Amino acid sequence: MTLLGVCYYPEHWPEERWAQDATQMRALGLDLVRIAEFAWARMEPAEGRFDWGWLDRAVETLAGAGLKLALGTPTPAPPAWLVQAHPDILPVDAEGRRRRHGGRRHVCANAPAFQTASDRIVAALAKRYGQHPALVGWQTDNEFGGGSTIRCYCDHCAAAFRRWLQARYGSLDQMNEAWGAVFWSQWYTEWDQIQLPNLVLGQPNPSHVLDYYRFSSDSWVAYQRAQIRQLRELSPGRWVTHNLMGPVRSLDYYALAADLDFVSWDNYPTGNTDRDTPLMYGPGATPPPHGYDVGDPALTAFYHTLMRGLKRQPVWIMEQQPGYVNWGKHNPTPRPGVVRYWTLEDFAHGTDTVVYFRWRACHYAQEQFHSGLLKHDGTPDQGFQEVAGLDKDRDLLTRLQGTQPQADVALLYSYEDDWAAALQPHHADFDVRRAVFALFRAFQRAGHAVDIVHPRADLSSYRLVVAPTLWLVDETLTAHLRAYVEGGGTLLIGPRSGFKTPSNLVHPDGPPGLLADLVGAKVTGFHSLPPGVTYGLRWPDEAEETPVLVWAEGLEPGPGVEAVATWGSGLLEGQAALTLRTVGNGQVAYFGAWPSDTVADSLVAWLAHVAGVWELAELPAGVTATRRDGPDQEYLFLVNGTDEYQMAALYPPAWADARSGEPWPATVTIPPRDVLVGARPHEAG
Ligand code: GAL
Ligand code: ZN
Repeated sequence: MTLLGVCYYPEHWPEERWAQDATQMRALGLDLVRIAEFAWARMEPAEGRFDWGWLDRAVETLAGAGLKLALGTPTPAPPAWLVQAHPDILPVDAEGRRRRHGGRRHVCANAPAFQTASDRIVAALAKRYGQHPALVGWQTDNEFGGGSTIRCYCDHCAAAFRRWLQARYGSLDQMNEAWGAVFWSQWYTEWDQIQLPNLVLGQPNPSHVLDYYRFSSDSWVAYQRAQIRQLRELSPGRWVTHNLMGPVRSLDYYALAADLDFVSWDNYPTGNTDRDTPLMYGPGATPPPHGYDVGDPALTAFYHTLMRGLKRQPVWIMEQQPGYVNWGKHNPTPRPGVVRYWTLEDFAHGTDTVVYFRWRACHYAQEQFHSGLLKHDGTPDQGFQEVAGLDKDRDLLTRLQGTQPQADVALLYSYEDDWAAALQPHHADFDVRRAVFALFRAFQRAGHAVDIVHPRADLSSYRLVVAPTLWLVDETLTAHLRAYVEGGGTLLIGPRSGFKTPSNLVHPDGPPGLLADLVGAKVTGFHSLPPGVTYGLRWPDEAEETPVLVWAEGLEPGPGVEAVATWGSGLLEGQAALTLRTVGNGQVAYFGAWPSDTVADSLVAWLAHVAGVWELAELPAGVTATRRDGPDQEYLFLVNGTDEYQMAALYPPAWADARSGEPWPATVTIPPRDVLVGARPHEAG
């Protein structure tokens, strides 16, 4: 059983220190140490010449102290000698510039010399340590896509892209049709004429670009698969994972995760909040109250939910922020209690194991200002103290391992939809992730547990499924959604859904394209609303109109389809904005408005009522509720990211404190920056 661990870089520290570090890790209650993911130049100082001495000794020292080992393949950091011998492994950016050695991830996934070198080091590492009794698993590479490194515009990629297109379309004519290449004389008559879509004048063709994005993502999935094949062969019985990142959008993580035993990801709450708040909150959206040093709990929860939805299993946190980071704008030092809070929050959202990044703050190079569990001088920092304090949570955390996150509601998200929408947003603030996040937060505010899953995932366990905006729709997806509804589910389809075919052309019948049959309504027109322009939405039971920002669609319901909400003002006045109809044993709704916070709140309240889903608790702003189910017990988590005591009202049947067994009153108080965990026997629900 692995509960807690830490990332360690023996190559950063004098060998004399290793034994003390290892002993101290064990004494702190850590079970696992992740090493080696950037140490290529140390392992293979020259082509084909390996130096395992230092790593052998590090492995023995750590294993000797009773730690389990996770090894990272060192491929995110190709050594200078490799780059010197094969400069063509360096990626080329969209401006056509060949990037340099000196940072990390300076590689093209399609460069043959890199693939050869990568195969060699991965095989050598796996042969050397793959059967070591202390080795429990592997991390492939490190953070594919970190620093915008998925899309390369080099000649290797151009050639590989042409092969990818040949495999996808078979013939040039099919590709030309799929791209609408008749436009602006793009029609191709030889495969070699096809270029990568950078450096074009005017705009590139969005079908061409979407395929290039798919190809780029596939390139890394295939690259990882080559590593995994070797690891499974040379190191049987060990798990293989990758450390993903919530914010990455350029790599189809569903595809990447399919090859892994489980998903792990890197959780940096303050850094992510610093970077992503402007991206993720558009007009009419406000972050919930939270401590400046805690990170936005809604954003952290969103990434947790997205990551665990990739395989719909519990996950690991492979790098948990241990204190301040170095890569945000301001990098606050957390106040006491926050590292513990983050750890419990991880478990609340479906994590089984937490590995902190990193053991000790580094004295040199790029990450000097990043905290570790130990300070620069090797003495315990805040993270260390708080991990020590987790001793009293250990029993509970162990009980939670393997329990399944539970939600009645699923939101649908796909990376391909995200790419397609970003190519032609039509409104600068219309963004797929923002739309999903807006509804996610609205469900959270209303006290519901939510999953985020791929549109083609098995949806049968959900009472309510919401597609905030479903861009690329084909017959299979339409049939899949129809089957869900006919089987008794409630489905809401949001604006701009079904408008496009998988190759990014408008469906010839106009919106909602293939979904029209299921929805029973047509979109009469869509209006992009510039800043300052709002249309009024009229809900059946609300006296006041709700102002809609960003996007509005008029709907024409067919026979037997109810117009639930209508446009009260604006150019669509009098038309339907929300429709509902029964199909088989279920129901399907279409909603034609951008989900700003107030709009989303009304929509979620209506949806919960229509679908019969019940909130877990009545929550104040800044508090979220989640669920996990074990074989005998179910667990409720109340996560308070604010600086105040908060009260949550619970619904029967009653919960008891998961640690002490003390029955909870009908209203519980959650201390600032804390997580309460309730339990009750499974049958009770
Ligand atoms: C992660 C990365 C680590 C380290 C860390 C700093 O994204 O995987 O190697 O750079 O960030 O926060
Ligand atoms: Zn390339």
